[in-house]
Formats: sequence, structure tokens, C-alpha cells
Amino acid sequence: MLQQEFLKSMRYLAASVSIISAKDSNDKPYAMTASSVTSLTLEPPSILVCVNHDASIHDHLLNDEAKFCVNLLKKNQQDIATLCSIKEKEDQRFEDKNWNLNSVPFLQGSQSNLFCNVKKYLDYETHTIIIGEVYQSHNDDGFDTLMYANGKYL
Ligand SMILES: Cc1cc2nc3c(=O)[nH]c(=O)nc-3n(C[C@H](O)[C@H](O)[C@H](O)COP(=O)(O)O)c2cc1C
Repeated sequence: MLQQEFLKSMRYLAASVSIISAKDSNDKPYAMTASSVTSLTLEPPSILVCVNHDASIHDHLLNDEAKFCVNLLKKNQQDIATLCSIKEKEDQRFEDKNWNLNSVPFLQGSQSNLFCNVKKYLDYETHTIIIGEVYQSHNDDGFDTLMYANGKYL
């Protein structure tokens, strides 16, 4: 009962949608849709994201050398958000020509790209809270952020 009500409350918690992207030590890229991205501190510019232990990107974020990008999506990027949230479609995620895979993978045409160094990670039950310090950030200035609430994209 409590869990059902909690799930309903979380459906009402409207959130912006990002794709977290990173590479492993063999240069293989990973990407995962995430709504748990939260601004943390301005000094230094830092964010946090909560990643399920089962996500394919998870283990590649857990070292002090790891880097990742938070690609805050625009409304016209809903298809790639879906692709990066369905496990069975993992092998199709990097077919999109808007990926730049030269260094830390990032999605061109996003609302914002925030490049981060992993600073800390905290394990909590099924998830790890990853804290990243932003070392570079760019924005597309027409505000058109993709949102998710009540089981659908808005
Ligand atoms: C809108 C939306 C937001 C999501 N937010 C998160 C999140 O913040 N953290 C997380 O671990 N999974 C989140 N997920 C689920 C993952 O995207 C999904 O489990 C994904 O398949 C995991 O990556 P993998 O397939 O590479 O293992 C979200 C899914 C959707 C549709």
C-alpha cells in the first residue's frame, strides 16, 4: 500500500529527461536515460545522478578517473530517450548520427551538455548516487526541455 502510494507520488514528480553517457576503458560507449539528475552545488559546479546497479553504464562510473556527460534532452529527442531506456535496444543506441564519440560521448543538438568528472559515489540499496563536478557546459538557448511525468513524455 505504502509502495503503491509512493509510486503514484513519483509519477506526479515531473522531471526533466537526460541521457547519461560515458565510455569504458576499452572505448566502448554507454548511454542511459535518467530523470534523477539534480543540481548540487555551484562552487564547484556539481550535479548528482542516481544509477541503478543493473544499468549497463553503472560500473563504468565507479572510479575516480571516470568522466560522463549529462545530455539534457530537448522535446524532439524523445525517440533516443526511449532507445536508452529499453535494455533490449542497447545495441542500437549509438546509431544516431548526433552522437559525438571522439572523447566523452555526447549528443549534439541537446538542450545542454554537462561534462563531469566523477568525484564521489554513494551506494544506497538498488542504486548508486554519483556526484560529478562539471568541467565544461554548453547550452542551446531556446528553452525546449523534454519532461517526463505520469508515465509519459511532455
Ligand atoms: C524517463 C525515464 C527516466 C529514468 N531515470 C532513471 C534514473 O534516473 N536512474 C536509473 O538508474 N534508471 C532510470 N531509468 C531507467 C533506465 O533508463 C533503464 O533501466 C535503462 O534501460 C538502463 O540502462 P541499460 O539498458 O543500459 O542497462 C529511467 C527511465 C525513463 C524512461
